[in-house]
Amino acid sequence: MKTPRKSTNNPKSNTLIDLVINSKLSTYEKNLVLNYPIESINIDFVYALINNDFPIEYLVKRSIINNTEILVSPDVLLPRSESLGLVDLASNDHCKQGIFFDIGTGSGYLSIFIAKRNKNNTIYASDINLKALLIAQSNIINLGLQNQVILKPGSLLHPFRRIIEKKKVPKHFILNLPYIDPKNVEEIGISTYKHEPHSALFTVGSVRIYEKLFDQITMFNIRNYKLYMEINPQSIKKIKSIIAQNLPNTKISSHHDIYNHNRFLTVTDKYFCM
Ligand SMILES: C[S@@+](CC[C@H](N)C(=O)[O-])C[C@H]1O[C@@H](n2cnc3c(N)ncnc32)[C@H](O)[C@@H]1O
Repeated sequence: MKTPRKSTNNPKSNTLIDLVINSKLSTYEKNLVLNYPIESINIDFVYALINNDFPIEYLVKRSIINNTEILVSPDVLLPRSESLGLVDLASNDHCKQGIFFDIGTGSGYLSIFIAKRNKNNTIYASDINLKALLIAQSNIINLGLQNQVILKPGSLLHPFRRIIEKKKVPKHFILNLPYIDPKNVEEIGISTYKHEPHSALFTVGSVRIYEKLFDQITMFNIRNYKLYMEINPQSIKKIKSIIAQNLPNTKISSHHDIYNHNRFLTVTDKYFCM
């Protein structure tokens, strides 16, 4: 998560170039300012936003991840490079058949990278937030991936119930759902807390939304699946025990992210890819 920025004074001559030279922005943020237009022509307002920890990515409406431009707005969580570990886990799985689901897709970038890894991959992606889905749709169209990534609005697995029941192929579920307990806001950076969507960050006890998802897996009687989950590393024991109780016929493994945190779990159904 991002660290708070030091305050930046607006120098006498007010241009974006001054802002880049004088501010405490990171090199990545300075490059964004230099390469993309900021719509507000009021430089004082831009300084005020920056001094209020407003992410530069929201100002220029883009984030660059893995050399790919992803459109963003304050309706979506900013793409995080550590979350790409989910793409690696799902793309490198021994089971190369089946379909992918990206539940809580946000800006759509995880679906986009799964699609880019293999043009035969089909991904069904959903989000409960319609404004996020509009951003995901723009990204998918900009990158020409509309034949591979299919978007549906709705909560968790509901939008895909019929597809899941109909298709008897292996199902890969990519899940980066909210996992910060609202009582533990200190786990996230100040910029994230102030400006990124709380509906993308918070869930009761760090696990409530995943509990609902496990209920749906049981209720819809889903078989032949694997979950690739990003979780709160602080809650790993708790979530493992909830999975063991709710999805008994599965094997659970944990995996490190690029910062060596235990941030991912894979949960493999015993009928997966047989
Ligand atoms: C942590 S963000 C992750 C977004 C994106 N996958 C990423 O990695 O940047 C969680 C996303 O889940 C969505 N979400 C929250 N509750 C949901 C629900 N019940 N069903 C589907 N999506 C949900 C949020 O709107 C948000 O876009």
